[in-house]
Amino acid sequence: MVYSIIIHTLSQLIGLLAEILYYYIVLRRYLQKNFLGGVKMSRERWSSRSIFILAAIGSAVGLGNTWRFPGQAYQNGGGAFLIPYFIALVTAGIPLLIMEIAIGKKFQAGAPTAFRKLGKKKGFEWLGWWPLATSFAIVAYYCIVMSWTFNYLWHSLTLAWTKSSSADFFYGDVLRLSDSPGNLGGLNMPLVIGLVLTWIFIWFSIRNGVKSMGKIVKWTVPLPIILLIILVIRALTLPGAIDGINYYLTPQWDRLKDINVWAAAYGQIFFSLSVLFGIMVAYASFLPKDSDVPTNSMIIAFADCLLSFVAGFAVFGTLGFLQQTSGTAIADMSITGPGLAFVTYPEAIAQLPGGLWIQVVFAFLFFLMLLTLGIDSAFSIVEGIVTGLVDKFGWDKKKTVAGMCFVGFAAGLIFATNAGLYWLDIVDNWVNNFNLILIGVFECVVVGWIYSAKKLRNEFNEDSNMKFGPWWDFMIKYVTPLSLLGLNILFLIDSFKANYEGYATKHLLIGGWGIVLATIVFGFVFTTLKGKDLEEEVN
Ligand code: PFF
Repeated sequence: MVYSIIIHTLSQLIGLLAEILYYYIVLRRYLQKNFLGGVKMSRERWSSRSIFILAAIGSAVGLGNTWRFPGQAYQNGGGAFLIPYFIALVTAGIPLLIMEIAIGKKFQAGAPTAFRKLGKKKGFEWLGWWPLATSFAIVAYYCIVMSWTFNYLWHSLTLAWTKSSSADFFYGDVLRLSDSPGNLGGLNMPLVIGLVLTWIFIWFSIRNGVKSMGKIVKWTVPLPIILLIILVIRALTLPGAIDGINYYLTPQWDRLKDINVWAAAYGQIFFSLSVLFGIMVAYASFLPKDSDVPTNSMIIAFADCLLSFVAGFAVFGTLGFLQQTSGTAIADMSITGPGLAFVTYPEAIAQLPGGLWIQVVFAFLFFLMLLTLGIDSAFSIVEGIVTGLVDKFGWDKKKTVAGMCFVGFAAGLIFATNAGLYWLDIVDNWVNNFNLILIGVFECVVVGWIYSAKKLRNEFNEDSNMKFGPWWDFMIKYVTPLSLLGLNILFLIDSFKANYEGYATKHLLIGGWGIVLATIVFGFVFTTLKGKDLEEEVN
């Protein structure tokens, strides 16, 4: 009797539990489908809006602001470069930055999953993988520049470059540069060690995802800005600085007729704002769904451009000083590529008044600034790729981070050979000046025309006090893609006219077109792989 009562009660209890479980599952599915867009409830989140802004600024502000921007300004007409740069910012940089942040926030996913959700079925997923593959190529060489910086941080303790000429020291002692891309030689051990340190630093910064990144950027964003301000003050108070500033701010108007100056300005804006790499999509995917996109984007863009502009004062002030001490006119210094940060600037530092200690301190601060500037840009790329993989395949984030760091390190070894600088130069040129621009054209067409620029604008305007008008649609649908397409055509014409920098065709086919093709193939292959996210959506 007692047993039958117990059994009866138990069976009723089990029935009740089963019913609760059933309704729980139904309710959860209903909520997910209707209110969370099929997103897992446990997505990581930035701890605050300001941490997101700080991290995005950390990604944008990097080596690009300190050596790429002043270098581009130097090569493209000094003050005249500022005009196309500003036009590129308004017509392409800001519209694209807003677009990527809006997409990441809306779809709450890294670039591949976000672009898939944006179209029907798997239609545009490749448009997420392609930039991620491209950014992988970039991070591989970006980290070797970080490795050079680690080496210079060490050498700055003895101002090692003063023993020979600073150019010989960089190309000979540090890079051990061979005579052609085909002549790799062996691995350059100090560079490999710098590379290992860089990747450990990256792994450490993102090993716990958004949480650990949030803590790191509180240091790696303000510190280099403080260092930069110190360097600007030092530069501006040097004898001859004013001549350098004049060179920087006086436009050479006739250079504006040169279409390559415009191409350089657009390329610089994309590289500097970290747009078209899928990174801002990933970063924005950790924002709550009601975040303010336009205001955040404007703050990020403004901070990035302001820092580039300010860095110009540190560099050109110092060049003015160098002009006075060396007697070589700034225009004749023939600075190219990394020469500005690793040859010209160290040379100027070694001549600072005040004696050896002052010179060592400023050299150390300069390379520390480069390191802290670069690290959050480098890890943002890895985070962008990891987010794409984790969102699609549901892999464990910690293991994916560790795996990516290892793969990135291995890929970067080619740049640690004696021919590393040549390969860096080729990959950098094709990836930034062709591949990214082409990605930009596709992104604008897909978002502007297929998804509808107006729809996306209405969506992001809803959560913001700063409302964007139809001019934004006009940019995304016409101005940005057409100007990008123009740049692509220009690049093609140029590359058929003459071999870039006189490199052999076979090397350009491997490091240039080969890499472009590889990123496209990678995009399609990863799209066809079966992911977990699609299963979840179907269920
Ligand atoms: N914006 C960084 C800089 O100016 O140094 C470089 C960069 C970071 C490029 C992240 C691309 C990227 F995805």
